[in-house]
Amino acid sequence: MTDVLFSPIKVGSIELGNRIVLAPLTRFRNDDDGSPNAELAPEHYAERCLVPGTLLIAEATDVSKFSGSYANVPGLYTEKQIEAWKKVTDAVHAKKGYIFVQLWALGRVNPGNLVSDVVGASPIPDGEGKVPRELTEAEILEYEDAFVEASKAAIKAGFDGVEIHGAHGYLVDQFIQDVSNQRTDKYGGSVENRARFALEIVEKVSAAIGPEHTGIRLSPFSQFQGMKMTDPYPTFSYIISKLQESYPSLAYLHVVEPRVSGGSDREAEEGESTAPYHKLWKGAWIAAGGFTAESAKEYAAQYPEKTLIAFGRYFTSNPDLVAKIKEGIPLVPYEREKFYVNKSPVGYLDYKYAPELKGKYY
Ligand SMILES: Cc1cc2nc3c(=O)[nH]c(=O)nc-3n(C[C@H](O)[C@H](O)[C@H](O)COP(=O)(O)O)c2cc1C
Repeated sequence: MTDVLFSPIKVGSIELGNRIVLAPLTRFRNDDDGSPNAELAPEHYAERCLVPGTLLIAEATDVSKFSGSYANVPGLYTEKQIEAWKKVTDAVHAKKGYIFVQLWALGRVNPGNLVSDVVGASPIPDGEGKVPRELTEAEILEYEDAFVEASKAAIKAGFDGVEIHGAHGYLVDQFIQDVSNQRTDKYGGSVENRARFALEIVEKVSAAIGPEHTGIRLSPFSQFQGMKMTDPYPTFSYIISKLQESYPSLAYLHVVEPRVSGGSDREAEEGESTAPYHKLWKGAWIAAGGFTAESAKEYAAQYPEKTLIAFGRYFTSNPDLVAKIKEGIPLVPYEREKFYVNKSPVGYLDYKYAPELKGKYY
């Protein structure tokens, strides 16, 4: 049997050489103004393209100044940020890699806005019992426009496409799930209404930059940030069916497996599986969450015509992850304490390629 992980696949308009993808990873290494740091980011991303034809998804990136943020995460709403990202995309393309960027709005979990006035779909109390308010309809449209503008900025910055961050309890996910969305207007209540914001963003972004440059990430099972509906299947099945029906040429659908929650492992509960969703989406499918070299191979073999596998934590400590998996070389364990070291090269640029790969890969 040929190894599916190392067979080519088309994602939107690009032809990848393998099925292993860098998952979006927030690392807090950017400048204070949201520009990727010129000394850190181009090298970090480019070195993960040791094997030509690899797809990277760049970390969650703010769509606007008002979309909420943490210190040292990147944005795509100023000329300076666009120019700084261009250095990253150029470095990746020089290595014959490809790169999408994940577009992000935080909503109710934005630390700066939790108790102020620019927040997400519905109230979640902070420690003092104060609750954020719902967005007005005008603000919802402003957010949709911000996703469109950031998508255009991404293309200008040289990205091959964008991934709408619809996962992990951020703004888009807050609208999707009934644990957070308690609105009573056309963006809340029924499955169709809760899906509206996500689908409108897909509609507008794909109209602006092309469906083949647009992907979306969903996490139906994640409990991170107070999420997880009692029964996610009707809602997520509806969204995925709609995507298939109206946007079959989207670059990809990216779905997080039930055994992780955000960036940590969890015990998948009985009956939780992404298998029912597979039946609904025919295009490229990126699966993420808790994969090893072995389980990635097995999963990809189940759906060989469409599957890619994203790795998060292991890609932090193995810039040569794709080559290591191909050659059967054991992975270097990741170090959680180095995930988020603001503005530091430590844990970001100091993992080296395996010496066994020398000569063949570098
Ligand atoms: C340090 C860190 C940062 C992350 N940042 C993001 C992010 O920006 N966007 C996102 O959708 N997921 C993010 N995640 C989740 C990962 O993309 C991935 O889904 C998760 O780590 C599970 O995959 P893994 O088991 O291969 O690590 C992050 C995870 C970690 C550990």
